[in-house]
Amino acid sequence: MTLKLNSAGILGLGYYVPEKILTNADIEKLVDTNDEWITERTGIKERRICAPEQATSDLALIAAQRALEDAKVSAEELDMIIVATISADSNTPSTACILQEKLGAKNAAAFDLSAACSGFVYSSAIATQFIETGVYKKVLVVGAETLSKFVNWEDRNTCIIFADGAGAAVFGVVEDGYGVLSFDLGADGSGAETIEIPGGGSRHPADQESIDNHMHCLHMNGKETFRFAVKAMGSTVIKSLERAGLTKEDIDYLIPHQANIRIIQSAAKRLHLPMEKVFVNIEKYGNASAASIPIALAEAEQEGKLKKGEIIALSGFGAGLTWASCIMKWAKED
Ligand code: COA
Repeated sequence: MTLKLNSAGILGLGYYVPEKILTNADIEKLVDTNDEWITERTGIKERRICAPEQATSDLALIAAQRALEDAKVSAEELDMIIVATISADSNTPSTACILQEKLGAKNAAAFDLSAACSGFVYSSAIATQFIETGVYKKVLVVGAETLSKFVNWEDRNTCIIFADGAGAAVFGVVEDGYGVLSFDLGADGSGAETIEIPGGGSRHPADQESIDNHMHCLHMNGKETFRFAVKAMGSTVIKSLERAGLTKEDIDYLIPHQANIRIIQSAAKRLHLPMEKVFVNIEKYGNASAASIPIALAEAEQEGKLKKGEIIALSGFGAGLTWASCIMKWAKED
């Protein structure tokens, strides 16, 4: 049984990407790779890289301020802030607490959520519960990453893919029957080593060995990730659709995690969606993990791609391994 007093949905969106652009030609100067290979295998042409003095909360702040403005909600009105990230300012306190102070959201509970690239959808599902039950009125969900600081710039397997950015959404009560209709969250910890930052935690605290071996950086088995992703991206959306009593044909627009154009295309095929109904910005921004879906969502909205009453699907996968999807009946006016 579910207790649902309100319909929960997105009231406002905002995103921020750092000014610095790193092109594939720039990466050619760092590792043995080339523009043609990166473009063909991933769809990425360039990505944004934060300034050395920027931490994840700095990116999150700008995205959050833009989302609050879009929602016409003040920081004091926020009841809760969730920051989805795998590149927190530090291990503790949470980046959400740093953001709460910077925003002046003094009435908000604040915590981080670690579900990698699925983090924004996981966090949105939590926000939805609090709004639907009437416990909270306004929840800010931010996906923010500074992955350039966790990449080994000598590893061509990862440095071509990961990037920086932040996207934010303000959740609140929306018209009955609109907003979040269903979601699907999943995890398979047997794939924990597929994408990981193995050092700097309690399993292997920082020491000379961890630094020498780049253990504080992202390590990824690309082929395993690819195999997992092509299955997960589509099947999680199908589960969410079933829970909402909908079918593939009902989807008006898909906002997928921007990990790899080939993964996105295969998910679209599985869902019988032409690419015109799929938002893609990977060529500009690369893979900004938890920030990827909210940046795409905010851009899609700004470009007038999301119309009130349309069925929008979000779908992500990532380290953990995790996957997550959500079906919304778009509640915002154009
Ligand atoms: N530039 C140029 N050549 C490269 C390269 C690079 N960056 N990386 C690998 N290669 C070469 C390899 O040496 C290999 O050469 P060979 O055939 O002569 O042996 C060839 O390209 C194929 O390598 P492979 O590792 O099989 O590449 P791939 O097709 O699996 O592509 C990824 C690598 C990382 C692009 C791909 O596996 C991928 O996108 N995986 C998913 C990653 C992802 O989504 N991560 C985010 C999760 S949220």
